[in-house]
Formats: sequence, structure tokens, C-alpha cells
Amino acid sequence: MPVYRGISVYTGNAHPAFAEAVCTELGIKLGEADVFKFTNDEIFVQIKENAREHDVFVIQTLGGTGVNEAIMELLIMLDAFKRASAGRITAVMPRFAYGLSDKKDQPRVPISARLLADMVGVAGADRFLTMDLHKGQIQGFFSIPGDELSAFLPLIDYFAPDYAGRDDAVVVAPDLGFAKKGRNFAEKLGLPLAFIEKRRAGNTGRSEVLEVIGDVNYRRAIVVDDEINTGGTVRNTVAVLKEHGVKDIVVACVHPVLSGDAAHKLVASGIRELVTTDTLPLSPEKHDPRIRVLSVAPLFAETIRRIHDGESVGALFTSPSLQLPLRVS
Ligand code: R5P
Repeated sequence: MPVYRGISVYTGNAHPAFAEAVCTELGIKLGEADVFKFTNDEIFVQIKENAREHDVFVIQTLGGTGVNEAIMELLIMLDAFKRASAGRITAVMPRFAYGLSDKKDQPRVPISARLLADMVGVAGADRFLTMDLHKGQIQGFFSIPGDELSAFLPLIDYFAPDYAGRDDAVVVAPDLGFAKKGRNFAEKLGLPLAFIEKRRAGNTGRSEVLEVIGDVNYRRAIVVDDEINTGGTVRNTVAVLKEHGVKDIVVACVHPVLSGDAAHKLVASGIRELVTTDTLPLSPEKHDPRIRVLSVAPLFAETIRRIHDGESVGALFTSPSLQLPLRVS
């Protein structure tokens, strides 16, 4: 196995607080790099330290505001590290973008997730590290090795004290595409699972509920999804659950895209709490006391350490609990 010099962590401008949090967990200083735009809108990058033979991790989440700019920053940073003779470069994308564009399901549409995966490799990444891809198969779009983490174990650790094995609660997957992950989530909490069959209205981003599959006649529900964008999918689900008499609804999601006023509309829909993670920044105007953010920085830090030390990453997910600190804000 090649021996790289120490772990070096860098970030672009998409979510620097997350990279700082990972570095705090690792007990190292975030690497210094200039990443900014010239007046002509072109991005400039310069790594301010020697990276020769280092094990470099470039943390850049792809989403929230400025998703395309985040992508360009990442690609240009990868190129800079390649030309700086880094020993190994890992593109760390807590949220991967364009995941919904993963197949040619209409005439003359692209498979943008594949294009993005290719670009990350071509730009210079030797490995990728990400979390809860929209579909697991997207892993195969990369021709470089990588790891897909899941926020479900920390989320389960969060919910377990109040929900595990209770007979008055149900897990609800608001989308059939999420059925398998929803099943794992429900099984780990020892709860039944119900699904919502939804239909998207063309390419508008709107969706409607077609049918509820399973029993939702419980007092409490945890609605769980990989990401919330407009919030339409979850709000429709909440409305259906209320019609069925569910009194206490909490929502869990990994990636809080929360476009526009989605956060406010969602908390106003009558949910008790939205529990999400810090794979994406939550801008101040989206903050609400009912939104809890569970940090996945400890999980990324532990994974980075294992990648660097050549230890199993899979072993992290085989125990019932992650045994990592739960940091909730
Ligand atoms: C869709 O397949 C995903 O799992 C999410 O349900 C979807 O991206 C949520 O979008 P929105 O919040 O805009 O309904």
C-alpha cells in the first residue's frame, strides 16, 4: 500500500463550516487555499501549502444555493491538487448533485449524474466519498473507487430512545423509490413501514399522492426521505397522514435542500419536528426551532481517518449503533 504523507483537508465555498467541523473531529487544521471568482465570473484556485504526496480530501458539498458554482469549484480544486502532485485525492461530496437525473426516462434527456461522476474523475479525484446518493446505483457511474456513507445510523441513534420497538408508531416512506432504505430504517427501529405512492407532474417538480400502501393508523409517524427540495412530497404525505388521524408527525431527511420557502412551509404543515443533517448549509432565514440539525461531521471524520489508515469503512455500519458522538443543534 502506498504511504502518503499526513491527511490534508481542504474546502471550497459551498459549506466551509462543515469542513471545519470535520477538521475539529480529526484534530487537524483546515488547509489553506484561495478559492474565489474574478470579476469576469471565472473561478480561481490556489493551494497555499505544499500538497506533494499528501493524502488530500477536498470537501465540497454539491447543493443548496449555487450548486453549479460548487461543482466548478470542486473540479478546479481537484485539478489544482493533481498538478500540485498530491499523493491521493479524494473528492468528498456530502451531498452529490443531479442524482435525480440518473436514467434516460424521457426522449432526448441527459444522464447528468453520470456526467458529473465522470467529470469528478477526469478532474483528478482518485476516490470519492459521499452520503446517501439518491439511488445506490449512482455509485457505479464513477470509474474511480469510493464510499457511500449513510446518515441513517445517526438518525436511528437520534430516534431510538423515543421510538424503538413502540407499538404506537410507524415509519412512512413518502416515495416508492425510497422503499428499500425506508424498510431498513423501520427495521432498525423495530417499527412497521408504510409507503406513499406518488406521481410527479411532468418536469415541474410538483408531485401528488396516488395511494397509501400499508397501515398508517398509528398515533405517531416518522416520515423519512433522502432529501427535501420544495417540500411538496413531504407536505402531501403529512396531509394524508393527518387524514388518517396521525396526531404526531416528525420528518427526517438527510439532505436539506429546502429551496425557497420550503423550510417555513414544511414546519407550518403541522409537523412537530424536522430532523436533518449538515450535509448542506441551512441559511439563517431557514432556521426554525422545529428544525434540528444532526451533524454527520463525526461520521465523515471517522471515515476519512479509516480511509487514510487503510481500515474498513463497511465495519462502521455493521454494528447496531455507530458509537460516534451525536451532535444536534
Ligand atoms: C424523490 O425521489 C426524492 O426522494 C425526494 O422525495 C424528492 O427529491 C423531494 O422533492 P420535493 O421536496 O421537491 O418534493
